[in-house]
Amino acid sequence: MDGTTTTTTPAVLILLGPPGAGKGTQARKLEEDFGLVQLSTGDLLRAAVAQGTEAGKAAKAVMEAGGLVSDEIVIAILRDRLAAPDCAGGVILDGFPRTTVQAQALDQLLAESGQSINAAISFEVDDAAMVDRISGRYTCAGCGEGYHDSFKQPAVAGTCDKCGATEFKRRSDDKAETVAARLEAYHADTAPLIGYYDAAGVLQKIDAMGRIDTIFADLSRTVSAAIA
Ligand code: AP5
Repeated sequence: MDGTTTTTTPAVLILLGPPGAGKGTQARKLEEDFGLVQLSTGDLLRAAVAQGTEAGKAAKAVMEAGGLVSDEIVIAILRDRLAAPDCAGGVILDGFPRTTVQAQALDQLLAESGQSINAAISFEVDDAAMVDRISGRYTCAGCGEGYHDSFKQPAVAGTCDKCGATEFKRRSDDKAETVAARLEAYHADTAPLIGYYDAAGVLQKIDAMGRIDTIFADLSRTVSAAIA
């Protein structure tokens, strides 16, 4: 024993990008390969809506219209989830932060626990392609694995590759008019975070217009370097 103590700070990765950019698809693959936990504020809010909590009741109409849920609600939900024991090994923030107020709240939360952001990874995509991606999207009702009518179908039609379930569902906010509002909210409130994280020295950009596996290879290299 040389008396040296080594401590590892849990990794914190942020995936930034408009609706349909592939954040959820890539976050689930990163979870498997890097042992990190995906925290999607969209999933947490949809669960709150399904459970009928006060936060869920307040969020429901806003989400259905494609707007952003209030910072207060989202920050409270994220703070609780981040404190759960399974997040101690590191997290991938998917869809959070989405405003400068949320980004500042995250900085404060992390500082309180001696953590910092390893990388904020911006998915660079075209808006037009996002509408195609979202309108063809569906997920397994059993495990949540994501699929697409054209780009990613199960190996056996009608059966989930991951869990074997045969029920699938589509999101109520994936209608064309709602997607337009979600893209607008992204450009107005979330895109400025690219500059915020560039100024903080943690911004990374990846081309997210290619094939899912090609993007994942690029993303994996970026993540490996960021958490090394
Ligand atoms: P949320 O659930 O976060 O939705 P989003 O950001 O709009 O993102 P998506 O889930 O639509 O897209 P994604 O980038 O994950 O794409 P995916 O991988 O699924 O938020 C929903 C709502 O909740 C918001 O509108 C807001 O109201 C509220 N909310 C959430 N967080 C909030 C916050 N922090 N503050 C305030 N409000 C908040 O891919 C899409 C499809 O494309 C899939 O079918 C997939 O198979 C396919 N695909 C993926 N990659 C590719 C590829 N490379 N090529 C072809 N197809 C691909």
